[in-house]
Amino acid sequence: MKVSLKKGTASGLSTLVIFAAKDKNGNALTSKLSPSLQNLFQMAQKDASFVGAAKESVFFRGQDADGYTNVLFVGLGAAPNAESIRVAASVVFNSLKGHKVTTAAVLGDSLVKQIKDPALAVQALTEGLALTDYEYTDLKSKPSGKTKSADQAPADKVTKVAGKKVTDKPKLEEIAVLLSAAPTAAQVNAVKRAEILSECQNFARWLGDSPGNYMTPTILADETVKAAKGTGLKVTVWDKARIKKERFGGLMAVNQGSTEEPRFIVMEYNGAGKSTRPVCFVGKGLTFDTGGISIKPSASMEEMKYDMCGGAAVIATMLALAKLKAKVNVIGLVPSTDNMPGPDAFKPGDVYFARNGKSVEVFNTDAEGRLILGDALSYGAEMKPVAIFDAATLTGAILVALGNTHTGVFTRDAKLMRRIQDAAEVAGELVWPMPLTDFHVDDMKGTHADLCNISGGRNAGSSTAAAFLEEMVGRDVPFAHFDIAGTAWSVNGRFPYCPKKGASGIIIRTFVELAESF
Ligand code: BES
Ligand code: MN
Ligand code: ZN
Repeated sequence: MKVSLKKGTASGLSTLVIFAAKDKNGNALTSKLSPSLQNLFQMAQKDASFVGAAKESVFFRGQDADGYTNVLFVGLGAAPNAESIRVAASVVFNSLKGHKVTTAAVLGDSLVKQIKDPALAVQALTEGLALTDYEYTDLKSKPSGKTKSADQAPADKVTKVAGKKVTDKPKLEEIAVLLSAAPTAAQVNAVKRAEILSECQNFARWLGDSPGNYMTPTILADETVKAAKGTGLKVTVWDKARIKKERFGGLMAVNQGSTEEPRFIVMEYNGAGKSTRPVCFVGKGLTFDTGGISIKPSASMEEMKYDMCGGAAVIATMLALAKLKAKVNVIGLVPSTDNMPGPDAFKPGDVYFARNGKSVEVFNTDAEGRLILGDALSYGAEMKPVAIFDAATLTGAILVALGNTHTGVFTRDAKLMRRIQDAAEVAGELVWPMPLTDFHVDDMKGTHADLCNISGGRNAGSSTAAAFLEEMVGRDVPFAHFDIAGTAWSVNGRFPYCPKKGASGIIIRTFVELAESF
């Protein structure tokens, strides 16, 4: 999917897309149109069928308007912003795909004059199109009838290219935005930025959608190394022996039940001077969470392949920052294992020692995310970053609190919370502040060890989990935890540019903005 910016009115293409907002009186409102397009615009509004509302569209075929055979009107809703454009872009993508149109022009004025920032307008358009243009098809047989043989070893199949499309259906390949003036440098850069952000976001979705047997810790690490080639991002992968030697007791404990080796992925990007302290991101890379000995019920357990989406978000954030050549120093850390029951699995009551020397009593092997993140957070804090952030599908409780729309953010640092909210606002992602206090820390004290991995009480499970993580960071480094358990996948069509079922690729755009804010 390619977006190009061109000066002029004619494109030589047969399809034109026109955006319209909804004005105060509930009528569709667009930029100045030629008489023949105006005529179609009026027809679209007949019987109030098109009022410029969000997700609305009307497609005309077989016309001869300014040389266009097809004209598509798409609504932006009232008071449009960047998010309205992302949503409208997904309507454009799906409508054109439905009508088997592969290249189209956009009437630029109808897009860039609808919001204040004309660069943001083309960025949001590009993001909306590229993010809608994602489908996980790696493991489906092709429409040509060829099926994958069942005995093909997983290791063979993963040589596939990340995000490669195998769908045979024609879909939108190129959009030319026709501007009344030559594109500005800001607009050209905005399209480039959108391409990088969405490409990385789609890569994270692909990592997430890949099932547990195709996305093991080893494969996750290998794919990261592969994706980082030529980007300036340095990737170091620790194997089990190194993880043990570095005293990552939590990661080792969770890995005990598995036949898959754990991995610890260390990513470094240096875009600023040597003396500049880094920003650190940590992501939960749990490739499949059965719950372990405290095994989960069967219903929806398959969704636990998404338990590495925090890790995928951190990998994608690091790739994006490197590709954007951001002027910051950043460290990305992803502890990775699956959580399996087995003869050697860690058991309730077991005590292990974390990287920072604290002893932890395991009362529930399903509260494993905090154990693997704890070691990575301690390790990250040792590098004295300006701030440390983690993203994790950490608790079911955050779904009860916030549902699929908002990512829960936990920090005691009010200034940092403000910075996070500002970054999310620019990125067009939804975050919500959650409590993290001494009460929650108290709940995590152990009986026969320093800490316990679950709280004594039944409630505020997301906050007590955050408190456990904070104990591993210590109090010297500004820290914020992002619980993405409700937003990392299956966002139920609330965001039309995210798959209804499947990984959303959430929090990458916010993390990129956040890193750039330092
Ligand atoms: N990966 C899960 C959290 C999760 C659950 C994410 C459902 C998305 C949907 C995590 O490892 C987990 O199992 N957490 C437990 C913690 C509990 C045992 C304290 C949970 O939330 O039930
Ligand atoms: Mn779990
Ligand atoms: Zn988990």
